[in-house]
Amino acid sequence: MAFSISRRGVLIGGAALLLAAVAGHFAWRGIDTVSIGGPFVLQDGSGKTVRDSDFKGKFLLVYFGYTFCPDVCPTALGRLSSVLDRMSKEQLADLAVVFISVDPQRDYGERLSGYGQAFHPLITAVTGSREEIDRVAAAYGAKYRFAGDTSKDDYAVDHTSIIYVMDREGKFLTQFTHNATPEAMYAKLQAVLQ
Ligand code: NI
Repeated sequence: MAFSISRRGVLIGGAALLLAAVAGHFAWRGIDTVSIGGPFVLQDGSGKTVRDSDFKGKFLLVYFGYTFCPDVCPTALGRLSSVLDRMSKEQLADLAVVFISVDPQRDYGERLSGYGQAFHPLITAVTGSREEIDRVAAAYGAKYRFAGDTSKDDYAVDHTSIIYVMDREGKFLTQFTHNATPEAMYAKLQAVLQ
C-alpha cells in the first residue's frame, strides 16, 4: 500500500489515479491478475452442462452472486444490462455473460434460468456443486459467505461483486465492481473488446 500511496502523490489525471487504485487493490487482495480465471463445469437452470470452453472465441464476462440478493447483484446486472443495450449487434455476437450463483440450494430450475434472462438475453445463469463453485470462485478470487440460517429460506449471502472480463482465450482482461457507472463500463469495454 505504501507504494501505491506514494505513487498517488505524484501522478496526475483520473486515469493514472484509477490505475494506482487498482494496483493498490490487487496488492491488498494479494491476487495476481494474470492468474484470474480458469476452466469451469457448471449447470444452467435446465440442468445442461455449461463449460468455459463453450465460450472459446468470445469475450466472456463472469459474475458471482445469487438470485435472492436484495441489492448488489441487481445493481451489477442492471448496470451491465444497460451497457449491453448500447453495444452493437456485432459486438454482442462476440460476447457472452455468465452469472454464477453461489447458492445452488435456492438457485436452480426456472428461477435460475429466468434470473439472467430478466436482466439481458445474453446472460446465462449457472450454478453447480459446492466443490465446483468453491473451486471456480477461488480461481477468480471471488469470495462469499452465508449469513443467517441456511436451513431456513431467508438467509443472505455476502459476496464480492466483480464483473470479470476475459478475452477470447479465457485470459483475464479487466474487471468492474457494481459501483462502476455504465458509462465507465461501456468506455472500458469499447477499449478492450477488440
Ligand atoms: Ni448479490
